[in-house]
Amino acid sequence: MQVITSVKDIKLKVKAIKDSQLTIGFVPTMGALHEGHLSLIHTAKKENDEVIVSIFVNPLQFGENEDFHQYPRTLDDDCRLLSKEGINALFCPDRSEMYPAGFCTSVVLNNLEDMLCGKSRPGHFRGVAVVVLKLFNLIQPDSAYFGQKDFQQTVIIKKMTRDLHLDSTIKVLPTVRDQGGLALSSRNAYLTELEKRDAYCLYRSLVKAQSMADSGIRNAGKIIREIENILNSYKTVTIDYISIVNPETLESVQEVQSGSVVALAVTIGRTRLIDNIILA
Ligand code: PAJ
Repeated sequence: MQVITSVKDIKLKVKAIKDSQLTIGFVPTMGALHEGHLSLIHTAKKENDEVIVSIFVNPLQFGENEDFHQYPRTLDDDCRLLSKEGINALFCPDRSEMYPAGFCTSVVLNNLEDMLCGKSRPGHFRGVAVVVLKLFNLIQPDSAYFGQKDFQQTVIIKKMTRDLHLDSTIKVLPTVRDQGGLALSSRNAYLTELEKRDAYCLYRSLVKAQSMADSGIRNAGKIIREIENILNSYKTVTIDYISIVNPETLESVQEVQSGSVVALAVTIGRTRLIDNIILA
């Protein structure tokens, strides 16, 4: 696998692929790869001639008191995994390559960036948008792959792509969960055994929301209160938000319908976890 760390070299690589008239599938990540990332990579491989994966723990999307410094960095393991998957190009720039001294450009998504997770993570989605835009400019993917687990992120990336006339198609793939339903996440590594056991209540509460909707309950407030009761019965869990939203505007809905998204964020111990389901 070619491990590329500089902007100059990734441009050369992309030019070579484009000159050969091959398609590029792109999977941006922050590393500590797990089956969730791999599902994106597998689909990207099926649908494209070449797949480029990036690993970059993007400082701009972490708040001052967040876990940038603790974020798991497992580059050697990740490289082994990607080689085994037959990926032939990994882009893993360092901070100064992506943000040379004096870097000051931002990408603002009015409204969308302040909803849901944006409320408690101010600036987070600006950081995500600017790094994804930079990566798209370098890699010029035909298709780029994102996980539904970060639902708000997918809405923001799709909107940015449309608003800025970017040429990539954004593909969103389902959340990969462990056997108990916990959404895989690099941050699950922070959880103690006890916290992990409690974390299963996230998915259980979302399943309950679906079954309430299935039984004909349309009142969003009623469903939210039920989720709240489930989550509040765990001492380790502190709710950040529980919302049922329109999948494009992210605005809260009063009446749920097929396609409404139930999204929630909690902290368990010192770990912030998010999850969501799109109601059937
Ligand atoms: P990261 O958290 O590493 O996730 C990379 C991609 O994997 C994202 O699209 C995310 O939604 C997806 N993913 C994570 N867990 C998943 C799961 N359990 N099932 C399916 N997909 C999953 O998201 C980021 O990095 C960053 O914000 C990034 C887009 C790379 C910009 O820095």
